[in-house]
Amino acid sequence: MRLFRISTAALMILGLFSLAYAIHETIPAETQITLPGPDAPKLYEYITVSKPYTRWEMWPGKGKMYKGTQPHGDFLTTYVNDAGLTAIRKMQGAMPDGSIIAKENYGPDRKFTGLSVMYKIKGFNPAASDWFWAKYNADGKALASGRVEGCIKCHDKMKDNDRVFTGILKK
Ligand code: HEC
Repeated sequence: MRLFRISTAALMILGLFSLAYAIHETIPAETQITLPGPDAPKLYEYITVSKPYTRWEMWPGKGKMYKGTQPHGDFLTTYVNDAGLTAIRKMQGAMPDGSIIAKENYGPDRKFTGLSVMYKIKGFNPAASDWFWAKYNADGKALASGRVEGCIKCHDKMKDNDRVFTGILKK
């Protein structure tokens, strides 16, 4: 009888663990079909290998190497994927889930110094427009990523514009 109770308890615990594991596994797997989850290396692979950002359109009205401000660099080239681009063109007020903005940063000598990326993931951080923030060096190493306080604090200035500086998203 006692042995029976112990093994029942063990089975229940095992069951709970596998349920938790199953839930944990299904959520990211679903979002990975087309887009990466909130993961800096996977996002980098997505924007450089799967859907290279250099083949996206540049931010409407902004060309290559326009003048930037700190901390992003003296010159910038900003690319936007289709989801983000539609929101800019239609002045949707905010970018939808799956939007990615990839900005090349250059120093005063026009040397490439790295990428600053904003990637919208529904539910990732509702308090700050659901952006996943990522800063990569010139070799693609993530220097900061996620709900990065430094990025959010400054981009909060544009909180009525989906925390985006480069263009106004509302009519
Ligand atoms: C001190 C303020 C400040 C901080 C900190 C900051 N940004 Fe920005 N960011 C800007 C400004 C201003 C622009 C507009 C372009 C420019 O002139 O630099 C911008 C533009 C961008 C853009 C292009 C989309 C847009 O909002 O216009 C991305 C992507 C971006 N920043 C990512 C980041 C990431 C990632 C971090 C943190 C690692 C970060 N930023 C930290 C001020 C800031």
